[in-house]
Amino acid sequence: MAADLVLDGITKAYPGVQALSGVHLEAYRGQALALMGANGAGKSTLMNVLGGIARMDAGTISIDGASIEIGSPRDAKAHGIAFVQQELNVVPSMTVAENILISDFPTRAGLIDGKAMRRHTAALLERLNCPFSVDETVENLSMGDRQMVEIAGALAREPKILIFDEPTSSLTNREKRKLFEVILSLKQQGVVIIYVTHFLDEIFEICERVTVLRNGATVGTRMMGEVTPLEIVHMMLGQNHSQERLSEPRSGGNKPLLTVSGLNRQGVLADVNLEIREGEIVGLWGLLGSGRTELVRALTGLDPIDAGDLRFDAGGGLRTVTPQQLHRQVGLVTEDRRGEGLLLPQSVRQNLSLASLGTLLNSFLMIDRRREQALARDLIERLGIKVSNPAQRVGTLSGGNQQKVVFGRWLATRPRLFILDEPTRGLDVGAKNEILKLAVELARSGVSILMISSEIEELMRVCDRYLVMSRGRIIEELSGSSAKSQLMDAVSGKAPLEALAS
Ligand SMILES: Nc1ncnc2c1ncn2[C@@H]1O[C@H](COP(=O)(O)OP(=O)(O)OP(=O)(O)O)[C@@H](O)[C@H]1O
Ligand SMILES: [Mg+2]
Repeated sequence: MAADLVLDGITKAYPGVQALSGVHLEAYRGQALALMGANGAGKSTLMNVLGGIARMDAGTISIDGASIEIGSPRDAKAHGIAFVQQELNVVPSMTVAENILISDFPTRAGLIDGKAMRRHTAALLERLNCPFSVDETVENLSMGDRQMVEIAGALAREPKILIFDEPTSSLTNREKRKLFEVILSLKQQGVVIIYVTHFLDEIFEICERVTVLRNGATVGTRMMGEVTPLEIVHMMLGQNHSQERLSEPRSGGNKPLLTVSGLNRQGVLADVNLEIREGEIVGLWGLLGSGRTELVRALTGLDPIDAGDLRFDAGGGLRTVTPQQLHRQVGLVTEDRRGEGLLLPQSVRQNLSLASLGTLLNSFLMIDRRREQALARDLIERLGIKVSNPAQRVGTLSGGNQQKVVFGRWLATRPRLFILDEPTRGLDVGAKNEILKLAVELARSGVSILMISSEIEELMRVCDRYLVMSRGRIIEELSGSSAKSQLMDAVSGKAPLEALAS
């Protein structure tokens, strides 16, 4: 059977990087093709070419055996291609309806037909089970909801070919389930789906085949039924990757660095007490909605607290601090790299030095460019950030490499405590490994780490101790040598926070 969509010999260079070299990809109607590869492998670039956002240097694209030209997003649309991009592209100041129909407002005698527009979008939102109204301004929506708006916008075009570039990274589990249902029904209608993700479990659930890219070239394509997750990882990285512990758990005994007692936030956190000692990695373990992120937000002043005593040792012993003061002392890395204030139009160098400008000033109170450059080069090397040079704009880095820049920025300030909330979300297996190794290295040098991850296997590779959360409380403490079954037992049957609130 000849493929319905064929990309062949796709080549694309950016200044300093060969993003794609001769990529070959085939996709079929009624099937979902997974596109996988390490951060920077070229997945988004390839999809940008198909979506008309980037122009290829060489190669051919054909649909149903006929070669087509795609020079702009408009061309792509004319060929029935819709694209949900990796980074959100909604216009925050516009309503949901306007965003969904942004490029093709229904018109009546040349005027925008507001009624038809609202009716059409309302139907789309219902299909996606979205709980918000078509008249809501997008800036009032959560990241997950905004992503759903983008997806609705793609569906509005009734595409023949639908591309998703890491669509689930900001979706809740419920939203993800809905998306998967919609993908299933699109497949039944004969749509070609191309699905870019780092989540292996997702592609085994919804895709028929997987094509793997490495360094801008196609490694191969496999049927999902004939490949194992480990084989895909090997294709992506071209080497063996173990899931073994990176450091054996060490028992405490060191000096306390942070103590928290009686932390309360009405309906969210209840009497949280904890201690983190110097040089240890503490895993905050609990189900989604157990209050882990809420705890981090309360500790760092992002959300108000009703009561609680925080003490932190900034050098001269434990002292009482406010959450806002604590915020200035810790390196906070979360999965939301835009919210972390990455300046996308600025260079990698500027972004890396942003948090430590104070230490880079010369005697004229000007930024010492030589030291800034040296700092950037050092961090780029330590974190293995894939850039052509430190002057490259952060916005042009692959998603995973942007996350490394967030991490690197804090690393430069030498905090005594890191709080990592899903720090490896969106990173490929190799990059995850590097981040985890870095955490272990930091801990060995005396830095403490509080780490949240939904992936228990990830916590189990580095943690010295676990705090188990449920319904906004820390319900148990487990040693770093606990077995997976003990960790699972500790949270099984524990309702998430939402259940508490309702
Ligand atoms: N607009 C651009 N300007 C310069 N370089 C770019 C641009 N877009 C992508 N690149 C480079 O091309 C390479 C491939 O990046 P791409 O975004 O396609 O990777 P990816 O596979 O999508 O990675 P991730 O999983 O992290 O999203 C990277 O080295 C990236 O820095
Ligand atoms: Mg990408």
